[in-house]
Amino acid sequence: MKIMVIGAGQMGGGIAQVMAANNHVTYLNDISMELIHKRVDFIGAILQKNVDKGKISPDQRMETLSRILPTISLDDAADCDLIIEAIVENMEAKASIFSKLDLICKPSCIFASNTSSLPLTEIAACTNRPDRVIGMHFMNPVPVMKLVEIIRGLATSDETYEVIKQLAKDIAKVPVEVRDVPGFVSNRVLQLMINEAIYCLYEGVATPQGIDTVMKLGMNNPMGPLELADFIGLDTVLAIMETLYHGYGDCKYRPCPLLRQYVKAGWYGKKSGRGFYQY
Ligand code: CAA
Ligand code: NAD
Repeated sequence: MKIMVIGAGQMGGGIAQVMAANNHVTYLNDISMELIHKRVDFIGAILQKNVDKGKISPDQRMETLSRILPTISLDDAADCDLIIEAIVENMEAKASIFSKLDLICKPSCIFASNTSSLPLTEIAACTNRPDRVIGMHFMNPVPVMKLVEIIRGLATSDETYEVIKQLAKDIAKVPVEVRDVPGFVSNRVLQLMINEAIYCLYEGVATPQGIDTVMKLGMNNPMGPLELADFIGLDTVLAIMETLYHGYGDCKYRPCPLLRQYVKAGWYGKKSGRGFYQY
């Protein structure tokens, strides 16, 4: 399968790495070559660690990297069989990309979005191929996490669903079908915990380290909720909370004011160097 991954951030990079490691020629697209090369260097470093650990050979590393083709032109999507979009969690941005791709890509090309929370049915409605639009929601870090939530929009065809489910299995992930509701299952559950942890900090219940230690040692979570929020990106966490809040109209999903303030300050977590912790 020839694939284009759009967005060379932490998710797009991980998706491109996994697809290329599984023999798929994969374009990696972003708004600048500099961003893409930075991500390819990061992938190269992760693969080098795997070589050092004896998990893959140096040749396998080079072959995987050679299958990742950097591009800033959406026109390269013309001969692709699958698009996986992983840009910012914003409906206008995603709608704009998919309506452009609809004119460029061949009719058989499937459009998958890695959105964390946005309605696939609405994304599909921006195209003339709603039967070929689907959610393929990977977890972070993509090369490590086994789950892929698969979300069918109102018009997604059985054929599209079967292709994507099989692809997820072929790359050694575990697909779970989820209905097209705000936040799906993963973020409907996870972000409530993260938002509540931010409220604990906002109300002075404990320090960030205290809150994370409770959840790590008390619940055996690999990361505490504030560390995890920093890892996901606080801009993304806020965007997901807004989708949940507006989507369900229920005040239990109201984003904590402290989260809004951090995002306004540009404190996006690990990717910007500062969030609940400093990096
Ligand atoms: N890319 C690729 N591989 C990575 C990586 C990355 N960014 N970060 C870590 N790894 C690999 C390491 O190379 C290592 O591999 P080996 O086992 O082969 O040696 C393995 O992951 C474990 O890494 P470390 O030993 O360095 O660190 P760790 O044991 O603390 O594990 C972790 C790191 C896997 C990230 C772990 O802390 C964890 O599971 N955290 C929770 C992650 C999580 O909950 N993800 C879901 C977020 S929510 C989401 O994704 C949905 C959404 O829409 C927001
Ligand atoms: P990120 O901020 O790390 O990366 C986003 C990338 O998209 C940036 O490199 C940016 O330059 C690029 N981009 C923005 N507009 C673009 C455009 N018009 N064309 C091409 N590239 C563009 O974000 P991320 O954490 O990788 O998240 C990306 C998507 O994946 C979001 O929809 C997010 O909700 C979802 N997601 C995130 C996580 C997570 O843990 N961070 C997990 C699962 C899903």
